[in-house]
Amino acid sequence: MSVGEIPDSGPLIIGHRGASAHAPENTHAAFERAFADGADGIEFDVRLARDGVPFVFHDATFKRTVMIDGDADDHPSTDLSQIWAGAWFNRRYPERGHPTFIFQQIPTLAQVFERYGAHTLYAEMKCEDASRRPALAGAVVEMTRAYAIADRVVVKSFEHDALSEVKRLAPEIRTAALFGRTWPRPLLPGAEIIAAAERCGADEISLHHSLLRKATVEEARRRGFEVLVWTVNSPFWLRRARALGVRAVFTDRPGRMRDYLSKKLRARGGTGRRQTA
Ligand code: G3P
Ligand code: CA
Repeated sequence: MSVGEIPDSGPLIIGHRGASAHAPENTHAAFERAFADGADGIEFDVRLARDGVPFVFHDATFKRTVMIDGDADDHPSTDLSQIWAGAWFNRRYPERGHPTFIFQQIPTLAQVFERYGAHTLYAEMKCEDASRRPALAGAVVEMTRAYAIADRVVVKSFEHDALSEVKRLAPEIRTAALFGRTWPRPLLPGAEIIAAAERCGADEISLHHSLLRKATVEEARRRGFEVLVWTVNSPFWLRRARALGVRAVFTDRPGRMRDYLSKKLRARGGTGRRQTA
């Protein structure tokens, strides 16, 4: 299935930073676990290394997951490839840890595209320094074209100027505008969400679940947007997303969401899995 199509068996199940409840986020261990657990695709965060190489990492600093000083984007990609990015998970979640996690490395975007390019991929650009956003957008566009996977990648961001740049460079690449719990204030009206997505030329609107309202989804879809929701780790939000015709949910627990969807569909006489042909 290409991006942009609505599945008839419920929302796409997308592993948020991979299966990040079960393995260190944004590493191959988390991505492989997501697919093993039945995810339709993965979400991951993309930053720009000092030497212009896009790499896959969530935080602006290394404090939480790597425990070294400094900003992540200040390092060249040669340094990033030497860093172990999974030991923190074993320390924080000993019951879910695994000895192999400590050897997980920070992937480059090229490695992720190379390994998982056959699947639906949601690549989130993160760049606190606005002056570097055009370079990040350019690097993501270049890599998507190099791997010829524009029909499977959606580029998303809270930084809507970076999305405008992706569209300027590559109108063929789908983009999703993100709206968080605090963007720019709680209880953001649906009309403002849709207007902001239109301003940056996005194809999809990705909402924190606290912003998921029937009227917003209906109006967004009427105006041609697909709607996405994160983080959906419970059947309650999955049911709600499904009832509203949301295209994809982002979850830290793709196995749990897949099982729930399968049971629900089996009860109605379906298989719970999408037809691949
Ligand atoms: O899919 C949206 C979600 O990934 C945005 O939040 O902080 O997990 O990158 P965050
Ligand atoms: Ca993200």
